[in-house]
Amino acid sequence: MSENEERSRKTLRIAVLPGDGVGAEVTDAAMQIVKDRAIRHGLLLEAEEVPIGGKAIDECGHPLPPSAVEACKRAGTVFLGAVGDSRFDSNPPEKRPERAILGLRQELGLFANLRPIVVYAALQGASTLKPSVVKDVDILFVRELTGGIYFGKRGNERTQEGWMAFDTEIYHDWEIERIARVAFESARQRRFRLTSVDKSNVLASSRLWRKVVEQQCGDFADVCLEHMLVDNCAMQLVRDPRQFDVILCSNMFGDILSDEAAMISGSLGMLPSASLGPKRDDGHSVGLYEPVHGSAPDIAGQDKANPLAAILSAALMFRYSFQREDIADEIEWSVEKALEDGNRTLDLAWEGQSPIGTRLMTEAVLRKLQLADAENLHKPIPQ
Ligand code: IPM
Ligand code: MG
Repeated sequence: MSENEERSRKTLRIAVLPGDGVGAEVTDAAMQIVKDRAIRHGLLLEAEEVPIGGKAIDECGHPLPPSAVEACKRAGTVFLGAVGDSRFDSNPPEKRPERAILGLRQELGLFANLRPIVVYAALQGASTLKPSVVKDVDILFVRELTGGIYFGKRGNERTQEGWMAFDTEIYHDWEIERIARVAFESARQRRFRLTSVDKSNVLASSRLWRKVVEQQCGDFADVCLEHMLVDNCAMQLVRDPRQFDVILCSNMFGDILSDEAAMISGSLGMLPSASLGPKRDDGHSVGLYEPVHGSAPDIAGQDKANPLAAILSAALMFRYSFQREDIADEIEWSVEKALEDGNRTLDLAWEGQSPIGTRLMTEAVLRKLQLADAENLHKPIPQ
């Protein structure tokens, strides 16, 4: 390996997009963990901070300036906090902070969104569902992210009967095929079960979805595939979430079901995500990592946000963008141990538990990382 190749293998190049509301605090927490791991493992960190969302509207009038897209493409790996700011609620869609995230997904071609839902043993009591129902839940949502109703033609017009508005759900077979392959391949890394969600009893796009997913079966005969209607899936998720391994969804269904499933784990503040693009010539995909929760303006700047979704997103970044499964495991292990010690942010605290803030929770995870280093402890890699 040449010196340059060696250097680039050891460099973590990240575009850091804190965004709005609690975004800055949780991004700061996650980047503390990234820095800590970089030092521990002798890696170089090249992080470039880029404003997007409401911050960017304030600075240059656009939620996603072209320079921000360029910075993300250059880095190839993006860490995002959250976007959303009620000051812009009456702006047209193109000038709202959320446009930044939709624009990034489109510009970076991030078609595959992975959202793991894991119930930590220490948090079984934090869910609104009974501990016996949520015990050991481990689901991976694979959500299509650049197609469907989010990006189909939409509009509104005045008719003789009054105003009408429309949005269109459009799926091409190649879009379904590539996300289905991600889901099948993910199932192979896990428990070999795949549930594909649709509304094929009503929607033409869902009938194509089901047909194309079915066609992939030949290549993945070892994976057990079932189809489930979305309304049934919403019900099954709270009835018996343990039945699921990988759940494959369209953009809209995945948005809704993953928020529902978040409550199985106790809080939206626990949910990380990875959004991946197609493999490039160098074999790597562009990856964007973000907590699933939003900007939570009501608690922003008060040291109240749960940083764990962001920290767990950093773990996914090590796993998928930097191919460092070992570091991802260390971070996930440390989060689990910090929770086992009884550390709870406001969203996780239940009766009788006194919550700690964003900073203390981050410190608790850092301490566990150091413990893991000192004792050379690693979460065993699942067989
Ligand atoms: C999500 C969010 C976004 C979405 C919003 C902010 C546009 O809810 O990532 O789930 O709907 O995809
Ligand atoms: Mg959502």
